[in-house]
Amino acid sequence: MTDSHRTESELTESGLMTDSGLMTDSGLMTDSGLMTDSGLMTDSGLMTDSGLMTDSGLMTDSGLMTDSDFLTSTRVFYDTIAADYASRYGDSLGSNPYDRAVLSLFAELVRTGGGGPVVEAGCGEGRVTAHLDGLGLDVSGVDLSPGMLAQARRAYPGIRFTEGSLFDLDLPDGGLTGLAAWYSIIHMPPHRLPDAFAEFRRVLAPDGLLLLAFQVGEEPLRVADAWGHPVSLDFHRRDPDEIESLLRGSGFEPWTRMVRRAEADESAPQAYLLARRRDSATGQCGSQDRP
Ligand SMILES: C[S@@+](CC[C@H](N)C(=O)[O-])C[C@H]1O[C@@H](n2cnc3c(N)ncnc32)[C@H](O)[C@@H]1O
Repeated sequence: MTDSHRTESELTESGLMTDSGLMTDSGLMTDSGLMTDSGLMTDSGLMTDSGLMTDSGLMTDSGLMTDSDFLTSTRVFYDTIAADYASRYGDSLGSNPYDRAVLSLFAELVRTGGGGPVVEAGCGEGRVTAHLDGLGLDVSGVDLSPGMLAQARRAYPGIRFTEGSLFDLDLPDGGLTGLAAWYSIIHMPPHRLPDAFAEFRRVLAPDGLLLLAFQVGEEPLRVADAWGHPVSLDFHRRDPDEIESLLRGSGFEPWTRMVRRAEADESAPQAYLLARRRDSATGQCGSQDRP
């Protein structure tokens, strides 16, 4: 083919060759790297709107965001995968009897304690908040990720979802009867757990119920690819004994624990903990008076 007959695009075995580069199944291969839905994948890492995502952290105009900036990495990660997460997990409670049993127990304890406002801190695309709503709780959701919140608001328009961090909840002291952190304490480094528990305690009423769900283990899992999106985020596994000890030190009384083995598609056992906020004056939970 001579230049005078060259077309603007040409189909090759590797994909469609256009003026901008080679269009492959993974994205557009340009001189600078592979242009994907999540950003430009270069030799140094993934260039996103927030900066360059490298193995060490997110490189922004202000410098390298590392451990202490896990909130940014978490937000970027969940914004990137929000649509896939919603389509993968949106209906997953229907096939998980353990999750439903624990959420039912939590809901019943809140209701029999008189009801009142409940928050899911780290609600993601809203499936757990919606389930608790369906169980009769007065529940709303808070999350870091605008992408996840957009999915939640679209799927469950009748429920209130707000953007915020579980370290700094926009809630008054002692106003909640229940707080669920369902797989949302899994991205913070261990030394930040007491800060999260202190904030949970602040917003819960005395005797208020805290529900945690998390993966059990010692080493964090670094996820670099999520459903074809190049990403970078640590998933911290926790030791239930250590979590209970931290809860005691943060003004909670551990109440119930369930740990189950990993199902076929899971990489770790799963733990569910219920704890009650101790009263600051007596150091006890009011329900200890019950028979
Ligand atoms: C594994 S997802 C779980 C979402 C939801 N609870 C569920 O089970 O489907 C973790 C969620 O926690 C949120 N998250 C993590 N750290 C957070 C923080 N510090 N404050 C608020 N949300 C947080 C993430 O944005 C993400 O949506």
